[in-house]
Amino acid sequence: MTQGRPLLNRRLAEFGTTIFAEMSALAVRTGAINLGQGFPDTDGPEEVREAAVRALRAGHGNQYPPGPGVPELRTAIAAHQQRRYALTYDPDTEVLVTAGATEAIAAALLALLEPGDEVVALEPYYDSYAACIAMAGATRVPVTLHPEPSTGTYRLDLGELRAAVTPRTRLLLLNTPHNPTGTVLTREELAAIAELACERDLLVVTDEVYEHLVFEGEHLPLAGFPGMRERTVTISSAGKTFSFTGWKVGWVTASPELVTAVRSAKQYLTYVASGPFQYAVAEALSLPDSYFDALRADLRTKRDLLSGGLAEAGFDVYRPAGTYFVTTDIRPLDSSGDGFAFCRSLPERCGVVAVPNAVFYDHREQGAPFVRFAFCKRTEVLEEAVSRLKGL
Ligand SMILES: Cc1ncc(COP(=O)(O)O)c(C=O)c1O
Repeated sequence: MTQGRPLLNRRLAEFGTTIFAEMSALAVRTGAINLGQGFPDTDGPEEVREAAVRALRAGHGNQYPPGPGVPELRTAIAAHQQRRYALTYDPDTEVLVTAGATEAIAAALLALLEPGDEVVALEPYYDSYAACIAMAGATRVPVTLHPEPSTGTYRLDLGELRAAVTPRTRLLLLNTPHNPTGTVLTREELAAIAELACERDLLVVTDEVYEHLVFEGEHLPLAGFPGMRERTVTISSAGKTFSFTGWKVGWVTASPELVTAVRSAKQYLTYVASGPFQYAVAEALSLPDSYFDALRADLRTKRDLLSGGLAEAGFDVYRPAGTYFVTTDIRPLDSSGDGFAFCRSLPERCGVVAVPNAVFYDHREQGAPFVRFAFCKRTEVLEEAVSRLKGL
């Protein structure tokens, strides 16, 4: 306190230390296997790492790179969107490189929102969304994805989404494939969202960082739906696709007007970041399809290993169609259904760290009995975790 006032401002008062910091500290203290935070325990392709070393040695990006990102990377991002999705973006005016998807989300929300605007977002949501909406002075309006125990999946109720839009709604904030539920929005759902956005003249920010980690169905970028190209800010990053989460290379693709707006905020957040890594990611984006296929196949096997093990350990498992997280219902093992207490005691009880999904909800009670495990770890680590969890 100074002047009788808390130091942290009102907008951020509800956002203390993230659950990931708390749980990762618990993992270190107890020596538990950390399936809480989503980062791979092995680095991405050797040739991509070497490309970063080469860039560093050649003096590429060691000084401030250009504000929008180095031309090589912007060209590679545009080529990726064309090759994968037949979406055409001009590398000079419609692509912006950011410090990870995290900065892209922050810059987009800070640029596009006025205080008092409402943002409709799918709940549970990735924790930075709520904080960035708050920093922009806007109001979040959650639309809850519902667990369906009979299918082991989460579903979006399109009627609820439509009902959440009011005259104050400025923007829809989407995430597909979705963290933490693993939901991949279907063509029909995306078409309905696009129709709603056009009808109500809404902007859409869509976080597609798990675009290459889809095991069932396919990833469809919302920007490809009728009427969406001009109102959609698409965000992705290299962290998940190439297993270099520490490099923090992300990007935005959107119309020139939207990119200009987002860049206005971005230039005063970091200005630029990750110089030499931008060159390496440009090369990574040009890897052949076989790289992306192998990544997906490897993670699908790991998903099945962990999901199967969790089911055998007694959890009800929601098998993800995408991402590298699996959500479980703890109630068969713990009748209190208190995911927070469960996760806090899990390292002591069996040497594994997980994250309570309640932290991703405004309606905390909706997420209370659910717990998330990450499977982007080496097979032997997952096998050991499963064997420990079976001892519960
Ligand atoms: C949905 C989602 N968006 C964004 C990010 C962050 O991406 P980056 O590391 O590129 O900032 C994550 C990381 O966990 C995520 O799960």
